[in-house]
Amino acid sequence: MTKSCNKVFITTPIYYVNDVPHIGHAYTTIIADTLARYSRLKGYETFFLTGTDEHGQKIQEAAKARGKSPKEYADEISQSFRTLWNEFDISYDKFIKTTDPEHIQGVQKAFEVMVEKGDIYKDHYEGFYCVSCETFFTQTQLIEGGFCPDCGKETHIVKEESYFFRLSKYEQQLLEWYQNDENCILPKAKKNEVINFVEQGLKDLSITRTSFDWGIKLPESMNDPKHVMYVWLDALLNYITALGYGSDEKRMDFWHNTTHLVGKDILRFHAIYWPAFLMSLGLDLPKHIGAHGWWTRNGEKMSKSKGNVVNPKEVADAYGLENFRYFLLREVPFGQDGDFSQKALIDRINSDLGNDLGNLLNRIIGMSAKYSDYRIDSKDVAKYHKKELDQAWAILEGIEHYIYELQLNRYLEDLWKVLTLANQTIATYEPWNLMKEGKIEEAFALVALIANLLAKVTILLSPVMPQTTQTIAKALGFEINTQAYLTLYKGNELLAPFEIEKVPALFPKIEEELLKKADPKPQMKADKKGKDQAEASIITIDQFFQTKLKIGTIIEAQEVPKSDRLLKLKVDLGEEKPRQIIAGIKEYYQPSDLIDTQVCVVANLKPAKIMGLLSEGMLLAAKDKNGLSLMRPEQPKKAGTAVG
Ligand code: MSP
Repeated sequence: MTKSCNKVFITTPIYYVNDVPHIGHAYTTIIADTLARYSRLKGYETFFLTGTDEHGQKIQEAAKARGKSPKEYADEISQSFRTLWNEFDISYDKFIKTTDPEHIQGVQKAFEVMVEKGDIYKDHYEGFYCVSCETFFTQTQLIEGGFCPDCGKETHIVKEESYFFRLSKYEQQLLEWYQNDENCILPKAKKNEVINFVEQGLKDLSITRTSFDWGIKLPESMNDPKHVMYVWLDALLNYITALGYGSDEKRMDFWHNTTHLVGKDILRFHAIYWPAFLMSLGLDLPKHIGAHGWWTRNGEKMSKSKGNVVNPKEVADAYGLENFRYFLLREVPFGQDGDFSQKALIDRINSDLGNDLGNLLNRIIGMSAKYSDYRIDSKDVAKYHKKELDQAWAILEGIEHYIYELQLNRYLEDLWKVLTLANQTIATYEPWNLMKEGKIEEAFALVALIANLLAKVTILLSPVMPQTTQTIAKALGFEINTQAYLTLYKGNELLAPFEIEKVPALFPKIEEELLKKADPKPQMKADKKGKDQAEASIITIDQFFQTKLKIGTIIEAQEVPKSDRLLKLKVDLGEEKPRQIIAGIKEYYQPSDLIDTQVCVVANLKPAKIMGLLSEGMLLAAKDKNGLSLMRPEQPKKAGTAVG
């Protein structure tokens, strides 16, 4: 995003459909979502794109291993991304699939334009290919034994006829771009890596394949049906085909102000190939390409085979989606790797969110309840607290440059400095003593100052925690929108008089004991006996019986406040006490319809905390596009009867 503009385009990478969404995908998407929300808050017309990358050898092989057609398989996994982003309230404007007809049309058009420009020629490719990274390598780039330098997996020799893109022609122009456009690649350290790479010389790039067919065919004008496009050419072009390039071009005016969010592993494709393709097409270059670091687990790369992949849905369900968003953005400096730890997440929730933010709101509510019957008026704030207002403004005035530089952790750090200032000001002036001393006007002004500081932070925090901040804003008598941004933040104005509303605790403290039990489980455990078995997720009968399934009778059911998905159930499993189970079934069942019905329960699941509530089991249910059905015994059974 740049400082002033009308239309803003923000993108995530499009995700490969050979894998279900994990924390890395969620991270890129949440950063992009935050930027898109920020841009809308500023009043810019914003177009936020995400989607799935569905062609290529990797997807064809993954589909085959599962006995599905590539399209069927791609549609299925693509849907799991779309569902997760919907559940995560990701504010995308378009979800592109590279199997969309408009995308295919746009890619073929781009190919034709590059041919006309004289940038594509036919030759033979001979070298090494990593299917997992969908990347070509020369022998000297490989690590000992012929393995991929990026992911460490085996590479294959490829020897085939191929069309090439004249990447070498753009070497100089690329170097000039890096030099002239300071923030084109962020963070700067990553930009230097790209420059070093390009300075070593660029080779022309093979951009078609003939040894498999799951890809976009060349345009008919090429009359060469055995070639399909290289998946990275196909994928990168999504950023313009989504705006209508080659089909209906009415959204192409968003293109002039583009920010791409990517992980560091795919920066080379975005910072070298992509701008070169754009130069060939005669289009503007992106304004920013931001490369974030990787999330690791106990210092190790996450991978299915290690069984250490963090499932973002589990974490969000256990700790709250917005708390998770805050954690991801606050914990790690943009561009650096971060280790995912449950402890760090809990500390952030209890300390930053609970103590600093939630308590501040409670203190304002408590003080105004005692002193002024919930009325808050800013009229004397400047008279008594000019110093504190100026201190806050000194922090907030320049804070947006962190957004332009994608340093979201620094941005949040500075917002928290204002919360600290607010909390310290209460301690310094001791409003309870002011009241005792009869300095009522001063005490009121102090409470109003704190409310105003919190209001400003709330507006600026809203792209990160959109729902929570709406709740805080409502309590403080205003709504978060561009008008509030322009007056309360940009104009540094103060709140109009209002009556503060009570709100339930926003960040209930997470108890140590329960937290230990709620360790987010790896997404998929690999079977030690081998990759093939892991791929097919085969388990032995003994492994199956490790899961204790029991029939339970629901004896109480009620809604969980503030949740669209959750119901709180008491389920009798024939034990001393009924279990409390928090189930995501509210969209499908009325609480009253569940009472006295039977369900099938996973009875030996580690208890977890969901939205602050202990959940001691899980209900079995089947879900498809027609809805969700709980699994129930055909005939009534005694509560606690084993299933298996
Ligand atoms: N399909 C390509 C992108 C094409 S864009 C034109 C692709 N897809 S991916 O699904 O493999 O990865 C998408 C993103 O997830 C990348 O930005 C990658 O960096 C990110 N992550 C994957 N694992 C990650 C972590 N463990 N941590 C943080 N992000 C990582 O590449």
